[in-house]
Amino acid sequence: MAKRQPTFACQACGAVTNRWKGKCEACGGWNTIVEETGAMSPMAGPVATRPSRAKGRIFALEGLSGETKEAPRMPSGIGELDRVTGGGFVHGSVILIGGDPGIGKSTLLTQASAALANQGHRVAYISGEEAVAQVRLRAERLGLGQSPVELASETNVEDIIATLSQGRPPALAIIDSIQTMWTETVESAPGTVTQVRGSAQALIRFAKTTGTVVILVGHVTKDGQIAGPRVVEHMVDAVVSFEGDGGHHFRIMRAVKNRFGPTDEIGVFEMSDQGLREVTNPSELFLAGRDLATPGTAVFAGMEGTRPVLVEIQALVAPSSLGTPRRAVVGWDQSRLSMVLAVLEAHGGLRLGQHDVYLNVAGGLRISEPAADLAAAAALISSMSGAALPNDTVYFGELGLSGAIRPVAQAAARLKEAAKLGFATAVMPNPRGDAKERMPLAASSMGHITDLVAGIAASRPRGKPALRRSEG
Ligand code: TYD
Ligand code: MG
Repeated sequence: MAKRQPTFACQACGAVTNRWKGKCEACGGWNTIVEETGAMSPMAGPVATRPSRAKGRIFALEGLSGETKEAPRMPSGIGELDRVTGGGFVHGSVILIGGDPGIGKSTLLTQASAALANQGHRVAYISGEEAVAQVRLRAERLGLGQSPVELASETNVEDIIATLSQGRPPALAIIDSIQTMWTETVESAPGTVTQVRGSAQALIRFAKTTGTVVILVGHVTKDGQIAGPRVVEHMVDAVVSFEGDGGHHFRIMRAVKNRFGPTDEIGVFEMSDQGLREVTNPSELFLAGRDLATPGTAVFAGMEGTRPVLVEIQALVAPSSLGTPRRAVVGWDQSRLSMVLAVLEAHGGLRLGQHDVYLNVAGGLRISEPAADLAAAAALISSMSGAALPNDTVYFGELGLSGAIRPVAQAAARLKEAAKLGFATAVMPNPRGDAKERMPLAASSMGHITDLVAGIAASRPRGKPALRRSEG
């Protein structure tokens, strides 16, 4: 047998080269290239392992119209989880779930596996990180010690597949985590790109042939990406991220990719001493402990998928001692903040050049909707002017570069949720013609950012600096 050439693979993107380099040319990552024996070529997939045939098999081509059954689903009974998967796990699908260490991935999956096992499904939980005793201890703490989940602490993919293939294939198999797995078909060390890809490939093949739902737990790197090759994300049917931060009890589950369901739904959980509890009304949670009388906070009526979520946006605008004032944002987009600040300067008359600006979405939620522009602007104006916003008002609307406040989707759902939670007024864009009647609460429609600035400045307490005062 010929001696294998050493190959080098980027641990971030999976690109393969024939010599070591400091920088990966494919993804631009530094120090990500590592020598791997027996690395596959970038194009190697199931194709490369298939025996070559002189002639292809003839298969029938079909039309778009035809009879197709809805993918059979297996609901876990945990409502927030089923919402994210799109109504339950699809048989034979593979889900990659990523999240920071200690966020609660193993806890959630223990709860999900127990729920399915209690329904009578065969469920296997394979931990490559913890001993069986540890997994058992966690299950006991969660009050799930009696669930008929089959446990093992294993890392060899061939052994795992051989074991699971015995008898009735499991309905659900959890692999915690994919980075600890290794396959004999690849020579490199566990955790390397080639091993992760090889192991994932074998497990995906197992899922597709047996109809078992396979959930792969993936580690997350410092910058929030699922560690190991991005290619695994392309190979699986769904990628779910589990987010939250240490300082808060709630955890948000978000589908990043989903071949069998929506990607804009979120599931909200709260970490308690009995594991993860479902949060069916996230708005109440995100608004709990709201500071009512301080300037600089505004309630945003947002949407996460089909679900309205009310959340508090906090801003702090303070004179800066730095040459270049600081702009920091948590839970929102930095460039979106820059844009809102530019619009406030250009069209709202605010002078922010000598001020530090901090913006925070309370509760650790991450917002990506442009509809939050108006709430962020209101919070910023309020902080700068020292005028607290009325605490029974919600804000939503997109800000254009011209200062125009533009309509956003699903206004009715936002208003309904706000009314349900006791809010009396909504500051929002001018509604489109047909949506004017039947408002569940008083709407204060605005067409331009100047209306918002004027409205807030009018409620400014005496003795506070005027907005238009120039600095220095
Ligand atoms: P874990 O599921 O082990 O996290 P991951 O698998 O994502 O690394 O969760 C660990 C954290 O969750 C740990 O800090 C303890 C906490 N926890 C609770 O607060 N309550 C519980 O009932 C359980 C099981 C864990
Ligand atoms: Mg874990």
